[in-house]
Amino acid sequence: MSFYERRILPLLVNCVCGSPVIEHQRRLVVPQATGRVLEIGFGSGLNLEHYDRTRVEWIWALEPSASMRTLAAPRVARSGLDVRPLDMRGEDLPLPDKSVDSVVMTYTLCTIPDATAAMKQVRRVLRPGGKLHFCEHGAAPDAGVRRWQDRLDPLWTRLAGGCHLNRPMASLIASSGFRLDDVQMAYLPGTPRFAGYNTWGAASPG
Ligand SMILES: C[S@@+](CC[C@H](N)C(=O)[O-])C[C@H]1O[C@@H](n2cnc3c(N)ncnc32)[C@H](O)[C@@H]1O
Repeated sequence: MSFYERRILPLLVNCVCGSPVIEHQRRLVVPQATGRVLEIGFGSGLNLEHYDRTRVEWIWALEPSASMRTLAAPRVARSGLDVRPLDMRGEDLPLPDKSVDSVVMTYTLCTIPDATAAMKQVRRVLRPGGKLHFCEHGAAPDAGVRRWQDRLDPLWTRLAGGCHLNRPMASLIASSGFRLDDVQMAYLPGTPRFAGYNTWGAASPG
């Protein structure tokens, strides 16, 4: 792993993902999580302050990057929540079938190398009646924006730690065995359109 990936990129991700417009998105989805929660791609722990602590039992915090886990540590310590680290990739989830009540995933599905395999694992561990709460950026509906996303994606992926600009988030989730319950899509204000088309809401095991 290069110096850029180990030291610079985690700080950049923490900074961009902590911007006010993204924090607004977190407030729309994270407080909905209840019970035994699994967060996929915990990152630097920016979702922690948005959990409703009266409704959360514990949080499995899955994060494969040691640098991100280091950045998250002070937020975990401050949170007072029962946060249980899982130092691995979403594709390798070790939790038992139907063992979590909520899965939270924010700005992670763009980066997971085998997104379909990870979503299969999410589907497996979520109990019937449980919910996936998510917010992701991805493929835009406008042909012009989409062309730029496709053009920029190879360079962007290298600079942004494997993040893809052009994944079709709603269909990726739906084709992994989920019913989309309450989903919204929009360009976020103040963000470049090629990276700013967001899909957020909740999905249930179908
Ligand atoms: C853009 S960051 C978002 C972090 C966090 N979810 C947030 O909202 O701030 C993407 C995260 O996905 C993590 N990631 C990369 N590959 C992954 C994988 N295979 N499984 C789970 N998470 C992964 C990265 O380490 C990084 O922390």
